Amino acid sequence: MWDQTGLSAELTEYVAQVRALNPSGELRYYPGSPRIARDLLRPADRLILIERHPADHALLKTEFTGDRQVAVHHQDGYTALKAFLPPPERRGLVFIDPSFELKDEFDRLTEAVKRIHRRWAGGIIAIWYPILDRAPSLHWQQNLRKLGIPMLCAELGLYPYDAPFGLHGNGMIIINPPWQLDATLGRLLPELLENLRVGNDGQFRLE
Ligand SMILES: C[S@@+](CC[C@H](N)C(=O)[O-])C[C@H]1O[C@@H](n2cnc3c(N)ncnc32)[C@H](O)[C@@H]1O
Repeated sequence: MWDQTGLSAELTEYVAQVRALNPSGELRYYPGSPRIARDLLRPADRLILIERHPADHALLKTEFTGDRQVAVHHQDGYTALKAFLPPPERRGLVFIDPSFELKDEFDRLTEAVKRIHRRWAGGIIAIWYPILDRAPSLHWQQNLRKLGIPMLCAELGLYPYDAPFGLHGNGMIIINPPWQLDATLGRLLPELLENLRVGNDGQFRLE
């Protein structure tokens, strides 16, 4: 999408954020989600970043030194939910982007959603997940559905679901989705697929 013209307003803004880190015009640096989130903050917003790995925590801490809107904590994210929720502002987003190194990550996520919802029923939660073998993520979604909370599932895959690759897609679960996010994603998913696909493969799913 780097040199693409005619992108939607949302993708244009996203590419502009990446361009801002690459003033030479050559794509070299890619912002992680903490940087992207920080750049979208309004003056009264605050961002709390929780990182468990000591080296990654040190990098995050350096990145946001002196930034009064950002707090960086060296903690387990699942444990930290207790300390930070509900936020005094009442409105907000919990974004969880786990590494899925542990086998029980999907179960831990379900427990986290329950815990967040108990403490803060109106909170928005966005969770990223990989699509490798599809069965575990579908099983997880069935469990989430049983919680009876409004949620959206958006998936984008660049290869067929049965392709013999490791990672062939990504998904996001958004709990308590903002109004009209379903319509926005309904526009953006086909646009992303069109721009990122190689050949005719790939698909998206929005439920
Ligand atoms: C996929 S990466 C996140 C990438 C980031 N969203 C970005 O765009 O740059 C996952 C990160 O979560 C951290 N992590 C994994 N499990 C965690 C946990 N339980 N608590 C806090 N951090 C965790 C890992 O150390 C790793 O840095």
